[in-house]
Amino acid sequence: MAILKIARMGHPVLRDKASPVADPTAAEIRTLVADMIETMHDAGGTGLAAPQVHVPKRVVIFQVSEGRLTGRALDRPQELTVLVNPVIEPLTSETELGWEGCLSVPGLKGAVPRFTRIRYRGAGLDGAPIDRTVEGFHARVLQHECDHLDGILYPQRMTDLRLLTYLEEGARFPVDIGVVPDANAAE
Ligand code: NI
Repeated sequence: MAILKIARMGHPVLRDKASPVADPTAAEIRTLVADMIETMHDAGGTGLAAPQVHVPKRVVIFQVSEGRLTGRALDRPQELTVLVNPVIEPLTSETELGWEGCLSVPGLKGAVPRFTRIRYRGAGLDGAPIDRTVEGFHARVLQHECDHLDGILYPQRMTDLRLLTYLEEGARFPVDIGVVPDANAAE
């Protein structure tokens, strides 16, 4: 196990499209995921995508803690999940704003519109399929992490860049953007 270096905005690995994983059960993927988990816990993130540790493969890890849920019926807390080759299907055209941070964009947060309900699918490390329909913050985390696999960082999804702020200023001068609780946890 090892703590990996996290790529920051501007590194080309964060702009590239990541490659599908041929075998989710491969030993190299197991090792990569173990290191990603250690790295995410060390950095205090909610999720991490493989390109963020300079590995351009379609692998994400994430967890959803109770404290950030929006109250939507399908916004559920989630234990640490590994998702290989994830695919997201929006189940609504409705979006809502919520605060996001990113370990690759340290010190900042921004209000990002995301679909409120999605279905996501992929494979676990054992190769077994994962298929969930979720809402709210849980859905937001998936959209954020899967964007990393397509070379997209959250500021590119923002529709009002006035809502991009340093964490300190965000704490000093809170902006009410709606129903989603304000939190600074990085993703
Ligand atoms: Ni991120």
